[in-house]
Amino acid sequence: MPALNVKFLEVDFANPLVMPSGILQEVSAHYQAEKNGLGGITTKSMTREPREGNPLPRVVKYDHGILNSVGLRNPGIKVGVGEWAKFVKETTIPVIASVFAVKVADFVYLAKEVEKINPAMVELNLSCPNTVDELGQPLGMGAESTAAAVKAVRQALKKETKILAKLSPNVNNIGEVAKAAEAEGADAISAINTVGPGMVIDIRRKKPMLGNLVGGVSGPGIRPVAVRCVWEIYNSVKCPILGMGGVETANDVVEMMLAGATLVGVGSAWYRHGFGIYNKIKADLLKYMAENKINKLEVLVGKAHG
Ligand SMILES: Cc1cc2nc3c(=O)[nH]c(=O)nc-3n(C[C@H](O)[C@H](O)[C@H](O)COP(=O)(O)O)c2cc1C
Repeated sequence: MPALNVKFLEVDFANPLVMPSGILQEVSAHYQAEKNGLGGITTKSMTREPREGNPLPRVVKYDHGILNSVGLRNPGIKVGVGEWAKFVKETTIPVIASVFAVKVADFVYLAKEVEKINPAMVELNLSCPNTVDELGQPLGMGAESTAAAVKAVRQALKKETKILAKLSPNVNNIGEVAKAAEAEGADAISAINTVGPGMVIDIRRKKPMLGNLVGGVSGPGIRPVAVRCVWEIYNSVKCPILGMGGVETANDVVEMMLAGATLVGVGSAWYRHGFGIYNKIKADLLKYMAENKINKLEVLVGKAHG
């Protein structure tokens, strides 16, 4: 009998579908994600101080996906961990706690704070494109700065706490960045964050649609970029990969796994199709497995590499 469950860093996921960071804004909405069949959930990235976010509108759709410039709107780590602690206790599925900083010392502080609420894993968002203006380049834009952040966090956290490094596609060599993260103690790589930034203009108003003018691009339009990135990361590291970027169907999940992902994030698809998408993908995955005589999804991971 085909079964959708996968193991990722010794953690059991009932299926490989993960809600990526920041897609659902409020903590309460994440209970819906569990009810609608996701295998795992990532929290919104938490920052040291509260952040109001960028001017409205922050999310706009275009023909092949969406653009967002949420600007890491969140109540800050103090309030954030309180809200998420309750969720982590109550949910039955693995929670990945995401944190964002531009300074290594802040990453260390934030990672230690979220470690206290016992998430299944801690994800370092080294790659948010919507914060560059105010705060400088994200640390994930270079292999050395990525390595420095991962190393400091690794030294500060308990040995058993699992660390994911979330990488940006907007770099020259994502394989090199992944390798640097793994060498300094990242247990897994998560990729990709949004592409760009991009811009869409409302031709009636003759103005850019986003309040922030530009925003990160996600959804089906970026899927080939995401697949290529996951492919390159798989070639560069030994650790497992949480792959995401434009996945909307069971075929897209299979493609991401063939490129090298063990878990697959499905985020912008929720904006475009709602919560029903997750059970649809799972039903279609089971059909694909039956047709292809596959009992465990793990056999697909990295298979396109020959
Ligand atoms: C509205 C919105 C907010 C996001 N916020 C975050 C965030 O806080 N932290 C983060 O690491 N990624 C954030 N992302 C990026 C997603 O987690 C994901 O990496 C990206 O959207 C690609 O996957 P998708 O095409 O399935 O959405 C956000 C994306 C969107 C659309």
